[in-house]
Amino acid sequence: MSESRAGFGSKLGLILATAGSAVGLGNVWRFPYMTGTDGGAVFILIYFFCILFLGIPCMVSEFIIGRHGASNTARAYAKMAPKGSFWRWVGFLGVATGFLITGYYAVVAGWCLQYMYASAANQLQGDHAAIASYFTDFSASAFLPVFWTAIILLFTHYVIIHGVRGGIEKASKMFMPTLFVLLLVIVVSSCMLPGAGKGISFLFNPDFSKLNSNVFLDALGQSFYSLSIAMGCICTYASYFSRQTNLLKSAVQISIIDSVVAILAGLMIFPAAFSVGVSPDSGPSLIFITLPHVFQQAFSGVPVLGYVLSLLFYALLSLAAITSLISLHEVSTAFFYEELHLTRKKAAAIVTGGTLTVGLFCSLSLGAMSSLSIAGHSLFDVFDFVTGQIFLPIGGFLTCIFLGWVVPRNVVKDEFTNWGTLRSTLFGAYIFSVRYVCPLSILAIFLHQLGVF
Ligand code: PFF
Repeated sequence: MSESRAGFGSKLGLILATAGSAVGLGNVWRFPYMTGTDGGAVFILIYFFCILFLGIPCMVSEFIIGRHGASNTARAYAKMAPKGSFWRWVGFLGVATGFLITGYYAVVAGWCLQYMYASAANQLQGDHAAIASYFTDFSASAFLPVFWTAIILLFTHYVIIHGVRGGIEKASKMFMPTLFVLLLVIVVSSCMLPGAGKGISFLFNPDFSKLNSNVFLDALGQSFYSLSIAMGCICTYASYFSRQTNLLKSAVQISIIDSVVAILAGLMIFPAAFSVGVSPDSGPSLIFITLPHVFQQAFSGVPVLGYVLSLLFYALLSLAAITSLISLHEVSTAFFYEELHLTRKKAAAIVTGGTLTVGLFCSLSLGAMSSLSIAGHSLFDVFDFVTGQIFLPIGGFLTCIFLGWVVPRNVVKDEFTNWGTLRSTLFGAYIFSVRYVCPLSILAIFLHQLGVF
């Protein structure tokens, strides 16, 4: 199967597609807020440190497994694992996590589409309370959120069935540059508002008094989530890379794009929020409650500008969410396609149907069927917690142990292609990181999240 296997057609295509997976809702609704509350410039520095010393080695690890295996994530791990060992199941864990997250992520992506529509129809009006109840009523309703989840999954399905080059790569080449342009337009408009300087300094002024262990753990968790690590996406996309691709260099380029977008997202949100004196929060309430209100207030002198920028903002969010969703969908599609020997269309149909069902239950658990809960938490929150806070660190930890300690060194080194004389030094640094630095750091976040310390 590997000879006829699909692949990205160009270096730009593979960088934009993988960066498309990384750039998502996490950049817009978590990074800016964490930066603001965790000490501004101090957090950004620690975040870059985490990206450089932990995120990039973990991304390279997934690249190595994916390209070496040239198959779906489950099989790629199995190909590297000692025969009969449990390591093959780590790949299955990645596929399972990717599958579950697809349904949940599609629900939130669907909300972005509804908000694009609501902006166009000028429905996001009124005071903060009115916009908050618009969101609560909408997300708790039975039909509309499920409708938009279905629309976005069908769109993702359409992209996926056109294959790696004709679907994923082509869509990423269109969506990523558009996303950048939208981002820049909103950043410039936001930074030109009166009082915007306060927002900029909130974001970039170092506040050393905020420095504590939580800041490190937040930065670490955010860097992993933002780079799409441990969900099978990076590994699956790497299975479409060629031997000519320099894995480390690509990981660095993707991380730079992801970090630039995160910082620009901060420059889009904080200047506008501070100019109207609103204190921003994080997560869904930031983008679906606080920001519509901020756009309306900040541009109240020129309402048409507020209207256009709000529309562009939700278009940007939808694009960011779609490119991540495509990568998540591909994880399971590649799995069913290769393991069940189905056509790509049939495999994608199974994934679209399955993740729509997951999304349906997640969405209904927020209101229409609130009995869908576990230990008092809606299914939506349970999925968020179990995949993001349990499966993700376990998968990341096991992947580092696997490459650092289990797979023979020469097999790993063989994937360090195109480095010339720097090869041995970089490989040495990489191995040190995946043997010691990454697993210990991931263990620390995991135990911290579970409240052990
Ligand atoms: N990296 C994406 C974001 O920042 O929103 C989220 C994500 C996408 C995580 C795909 C994991 C994944 F596999």
